[in-house]
Amino acid sequence: MTDILKIVQEFRIKGKPNGFEKTGSGHINDSYRIRISPEGSQEYLLQRINHHIFTDVPLLTDNILKVTKHISQKIHSGVSGVPFVGLSLIPSGNNIFFHKDEDGNYWRMFNFIEGSRSFDLVPGPELAYEGGIAFGRFLSLTSDMDATGLTETIKDFHNIETRLEAFRKVCIDDPCNRVAEAVKEIKFIEARADEMHTILSLGRSGQIPLRVTHNDTKFNNILFDSNNKAICIVDLDTVMPGYVHYDFGDAIRTGANSGAEDEADLMKVNINLVLFKAYSKGFLEIAGEFLTEVEKAHLAFSARFMTFIIGLRFFTDYLGGDTYYKTHFPYHNLQRARAQLKLVQSMEENASAMETIISDLCKKSN
Ligand SMILES: Nc1ncnc2c1ncn2[C@@H]1O[C@H](COP(=O)(O)OP(=O)(O)OP(=O)(O)O)[C@@H](O)[C@H]1O
Ligand SMILES: [Mg+2]
Repeated sequence: MTDILKIVQEFRIKGKPNGFEKTGSGHINDSYRIRISPEGSQEYLLQRINHHIFTDVPLLTDNILKVTKHISQKIHSGVSGVPFVGLSLIPSGNNIFFHKDEDGNYWRMFNFIEGSRSFDLVPGPELAYEGGIAFGRFLSLTSDMDATGLTETIKDFHNIETRLEAFRKVCIDDPCNRVAEAVKEIKFIEARADEMHTILSLGRSGQIPLRVTHNDTKFNNILFDSNNKAICIVDLDTVMPGYVHYDFGDAIRTGANSGAEDEADLMKVNINLVLFKAYSKGFLEIAGEFLTEVEKAHLAFSARFMTFIIGLRFFTDYLGGDTYYKTHFPYHNLQRARAQLKLVQSMEENASAMETIISDLCKKSN
């Protein structure tokens, strides 16, 4: 077993560590809250970095340092305008911001945001609205950074071209003989493939700007205070150059679905327009001020796009033999893919309502 408190000693912390507890659901990293004496001292969050996913830890750390420093400077100069709290990486003894232990594990440490909590599921429209504000603020605080100064920690993460290429290749190779029974899903994907290049094409032709984006805008990456005000954005591993649509779209995909991500009963999977509107309202109150007209015009579509690309990835993994996503039962990836594609369909059926919600909110934010 890893000696957590021994790892803690590798970092330059204030006070004496006197205990720890595991925190978070640990899908990617393992997180520990580190208690410090005397009581009331700043606590810390120690994380074991998943270096199988994020293979270049120094570059990953460099991205996080740049973004956290930038945000903290902005907050200290009062620009954020609200009690938004910044994350800070804690230096290790040799003055880098991670520690590699004898077993080859990488560790890092942040300030623990006292009195905060996160929610795995969106509890309702009020918090969805707050969530929209929070991710809007994250984009706002980083909007003056040069996105090209950050590294792509996972190459082609939301690149539809490479994702479709991988899908088409696995359809031809068919390593597990799963294609014959999946014709319906393949047709569904191919019928939408051209339209799904929209965001990438806008980016390549310079019609939308490359921004610093978070790329994992799940609701539990927002920390709330005891009054349910969003105070911090965490989980910065995937922060890299991207388009606003990646962040907005994935927040809607994960936060405004009336069913679970892997829901078996597809009747339950629908876009929840109340949550969609609430999140969009919060988001546009902040981001409406600096997004371009072209960016705004594709926000509603971006929810469909992100749902499509994640569905495509689940489906590709299913056809290829379930090698990327952990599955908990046979056909799990197929079930996930079907749930995502059903959500795409629901968003298509509600496309004009979604467009109207966004354009009405944009008029208000102008
Ligand atoms: N600095 C912090 N202060 C307080 N709590 C934090 C902090 N950073 C993260 N957390 C809490 O720990 C959880 C997990 O952290 P994080 O999102 O960085 O890791 P993860 O690998 O994505 O884990 P998970 O699979 O649980 O999402 C967050 O959802 C949040 O509740
Ligand atoms: Mg997380």
